[in-house]
Amino acid sequence: MGRLILSETTRSDMQRASWIRKMFTRAGELKREKGAHNVFDYSLGNPGIEPPSIALKRLQDLVASPTAGMHGYMPNAGFESVRAKVAEHVSRSQQLEEGTLTANHIVMTVGAAGALSIILEIVLDLGDEVIVPTPYFGEYNFYISRHRGNLVPVPTRNDFQLDLDQIEAKITQRTKVILINNPNNPTGAVYSDESLRQLAEIITKKEKEYGHDILLVTDEPYAGLVYDGAVVPPVLNIFPHSFLATSHSKDLGLPGERIGYFAINPSLNDSKGVLEAAEFASRALGFVNAPALMQMLVADLQGLTGGLAEYQARRDLLYAALIDYGYAVVKPQGTFYVFPKSPIPDDVAFVEAALAHNLLFVPGKGFGSPGYFRISYSNISLDHIAKSLPFLKKLAEQFGL
Ligand SMILES: Cc1ncc(COP(=O)(O)O)c(C=O)c1O
Repeated sequence: MGRLILSETTRSDMQRASWIRKMFTRAGELKREKGAHNVFDYSLGNPGIEPPSIALKRLQDLVASPTAGMHGYMPNAGFESVRAKVAEHVSRSQQLEEGTLTANHIVMTVGAAGALSIILEIVLDLGDEVIVPTPYFGEYNFYISRHRGNLVPVPTRNDFQLDLDQIEAKITQRTKVILINNPNNPTGAVYSDESLRQLAEIITKKEKEYGHDILLVTDEPYAGLVYDGAVVPPVLNIFPHSFLATSHSKDLGLPGERIGYFAINPSLNDSKGVLEAAEFASRALGFVNAPALMQMLVADLQGLTGGLAEYQARRDLLYAALIDYGYAVVKPQGTFYVFPKSPIPDDVAFVEAALAHNLLFVPGKGFGSPGYFRISYSNISLDHIAKSLPFLKKLAEQFGL
């Protein structure tokens, strides 16, 4: 009965996403059967490190000293005072001239997912194309299809950097958006400043050729999670038709609190009209506004990242072990993911085989890149990683590495 009420679209999207549910079910079963401490769950991208104490203290202070209206509606884009503080941070990090990007260019959102949903909703017409370098965060499939677009995947190079020739070749009259994720989930790659500048040149050339603007959207919820002094290069200062989407799900460990934002490039024609459209879409999509308390919390915490040293230690331990055991892997410069090559072409079969060693991974197929698998070290302690290494080694040996 229940299924009959579901739309074709929902049923088919859920079918495409079914391997994720399958992984969760298997993980639950395995933990019940073997005991959670004997299972190495590298599947979830859910920060296991609590928010920084300064964030928790600020939250307590906010609740303890209420101000009139703090729990009420506000402009759909968010509290003006919060957006002004976020704008200051974005201006600095994007190296924009002081005073050009203001509160009027910031939309507070329900996480990065909410930001992307609003952006795609306001720019896409039916059948518009969104170019996405692979591998990519699997949920992009649904954000794009739900907002009338077609995802056009473009493989990255072997080192997971942008393949600019391939991107250029895929831009058509229907291309409306190029969506990049920097640093990237699942590879941990940080795109270089040079490649972003070249990308901007390519888009500019294609805009002239096709006679319409193409929007570059950079999705950066992991921008604070970079290692060895890596820096995520700015985009808003190199290309006028650009938006920056992000959240505090990862840097402040607040994914359940659903707080993020996007910045509209002040050089965009009619950035005021874009803000109005975003406010309208926020209502039409049913978000209305980002959570009020969380807006106030993050206003003073811009640029802060919690748990960086711990995540880096986890990455170092895992990466060294993977190399030692013979896995082919590109060293991630950011995020809390590693994306090694599957020793066999069938990544789903490999991930199944890993389950026998109590290791839970996600197949590359879910990121548009079969033949790889994702390891997430977001929610597994250093000790537990160390305990898992003999199993990772046995798995490598089983596949002849
Ligand atoms: C690349 C990427 N973009 C967006 C999101 C969604 O983030 P949020 O929880 O802030 O909506 C995620 C979450 O894992 C992600 O990995």
